[in-house]
Amino acid sequence: MVDTGDSQPYSYEQVQEIAQFLLDRTKIRPKIAIICGTGLGDLIESVTERQIFPYEDIPGFPVSTVVGHAGKLVFGVLNGVQLMCMQGRFHPFEGYPVWKCAMPVRVMKLCGITHLIVTNAAGGISEHLDVGDLMIIKDHINLLGFSGKNPLIGPNDERFGPRFPATVKCYDRGIRKKVMSVAKEMGIAEIIKEGVYTAQGGPAFETVAETRCLKALGTDAVGMSTVHEVVTARHCGLTVFGMSLITNRCALSYDEEDEVTHEAVLEVSSSRAKLLQQLICRLVPLVLQE
Ligand code: HPA
Repeated sequence: MVDTGDSQPYSYEQVQEIAQFLLDRTKIRPKIAIICGTGLGDLIESVTERQIFPYEDIPGFPVSTVVGHAGKLVFGVLNGVQLMCMQGRFHPFEGYPVWKCAMPVRVMKLCGITHLIVTNAAGGISEHLDVGDLMIIKDHINLLGFSGKNPLIGPNDERFGPRFPATVKCYDRGIRKKVMSVAKEMGIAEIIKEGVYTAQGGPAFETVAETRCLKALGTDAVGMSTVHEVVTARHCGLTVFGMSLITNRCALSYDEEDEVTHEAVLEVSSSRAKLLQQLICRLVPLVLQE
């Protein structure tokens, strides 16, 4: 049995045990993993030869508690590529330590993946971002990491990666270029932007003063996820691509009356879900080409 006591990060052997549990139950040998953001989990409907593992059936796995996040690990084939998808991710605001939120990335690594695609819903801060835009993440600000909540804190196992990993080149430049060309082919280039994603702890959305602060820090879009997964992925040598769907604008002025709600976030993400799915579907085989 896997012991997942809250006081210690999972050991290499515990992660291996979870990966082996999954590999013993599927013929799929994934090369890519996708973490589906809020409201974007329908992507798995395009996945064939699906094998579904609800999180509660995977020994040692946390369970997802957020509306709009299903809580399933799905193995299958998308556009000819064997992959695994997280339909529903773990957020620090659910009460999980960040290392626990990011642990599934290590499971993916030990299942054999080389590439990770992360998607999320985010609030737009840069004036270049409109509601409904898709922002390619070119860099991130790990606000939780600034305050001592980095997923790599704790004993380091070199089998995953180095004690002090670089995070300068987190988001693969080649894949970012490919996404731009796919978007052009799809005729949606005008809604594709590029920018810096900042993760704050949530679950409260930002105050006006906080949004102004995030803007001054260099944030283009803000959310409550993703960064801990990407840091963990880069630590264990995975190539990463990330994309944010801009579901709302963050208020930069006290005169703005509209307040963001989770329902509004879900509404915009479901209106753009198909488009993002098509984009990811076309992207998947290209990601593996050097
Ligand atoms: N702030 C933080 N997280 C979010 C937002 C936001 O405005 N929109 C979607 N996720």
